[in-house]
Amino acid sequence: MMKKLSGISWRDFKALPLLEKGDYFQGTPPHTLIAQQFTREKLQELCALATRIKRINKRRDGANFLKTLLCDKRAMLYFAQPSSRTYLSHNAACQILGLDTMDVRDSKTSSEVKGESPEDTIRTFSSYADMIIMRHPVGGFAERVAWMLAHTNREIPVLNAGSGADQHPTQALLDIYTLERSFEKIGGVDGKNIVFVGDLMRGRTVRSLAWMLSLYKDVKLYFVAPEPLQIGQDILDLLDAAGTKYVVTQDFASTMPIADAIYMTRIQDEWDAEGESSTIDTSAFSIGAEHMDIIKDTTAIMHPLPRRKEISTDIDNDPRAVYWRQMRNGMWIRAALILTTFGRQDEVNQYYDNYKPGA
Ligand code: CP
Repeated sequence: MMKKLSGISWRDFKALPLLEKGDYFQGTPPHTLIAQQFTREKLQELCALATRIKRINKRRDGANFLKTLLCDKRAMLYFAQPSSRTYLSHNAACQILGLDTMDVRDSKTSSEVKGESPEDTIRTFSSYADMIIMRHPVGGFAERVAWMLAHTNREIPVLNAGSGADQHPTQALLDIYTLERSFEKIGGVDGKNIVFVGDLMRGRTVRSLAWMLSLYKDVKLYFVAPEPLQIGQDILDLLDAAGTKYVVTQDFASTMPIADAIYMTRIQDEWDAEGESSTIDTSAFSIGAEHMDIIKDTTAIMHPLPRRKEISTDIDNDPRAVYWRQMRNGMWIRAALILTTFGRQDEVNQYYDNYKPGA
């Protein structure tokens, strides 16, 4: 039976384990709030759709067709935290599908400064928009928004574009899409060694992606970080429950030769209470030209970006450095997600099957 957000109290919903929460986001409208709501089948559908959208969009007639699909919809981009890639790629994805967009990129420019509650602010957005794409510093706030809208007469889909230090599900989707594409000719993602490096404790992209990778067979995850910035026990517990193998280490060098993907992250010092991460020696958690002979010819070097010093610009043009492609992949997978959220994916699949635009 379909579980409805309108049929559960906030207190009961909040107390649910992550894997049970996902069941509440699949109804009408579907919400995208946590990595744990995805199945492998769903990931594969989205990746295939993203590639089809990308190919169709290459031709002018295809691009014009895509723009008709959601031209009757408006999206609200509410970004209460800074963003370049997530904001721009969602905006571009909306443009590809014909959605008009509106935005608030700084709560100081909304009536929140007059004392309006975040809940009332969101309810106001829902009066004008057909979808809310939101980034917020408070973990779980996107879930609260979806729950709150489910108790109004205007429940519209909510896409979590990054919440607190806990979830970044659409980043994880683009990371999965990048891994799928990078390993297309070498047996796919199953069985691969994925090495995460940097601030894993507060990196919401790693937390979401690590769980999504547990949907693949025989992947092994390596968490490489200074001890105070290591991955949270809550994620390790989820991996244990899924039977996914992992190693927790500070020894980056030992993981390099076996890595199929190296996922670098920056130190997330915006979450510091008193500048504590400046006292941690992070010099061993970076990659540069001196490492290119150690890693495999097929290793994908990834980063959600923005970067600081953890990836030397010296390797930007190495074919294994996929972080720029990874960023662009975000636009295609987010277009696939938005289209699916409105249930219009069959029209793209039909168009693709009829016209078969080239790769
Ligand atoms: N990867 C990512 O979330 O980048 P932005 O903060 O620039 O959106």
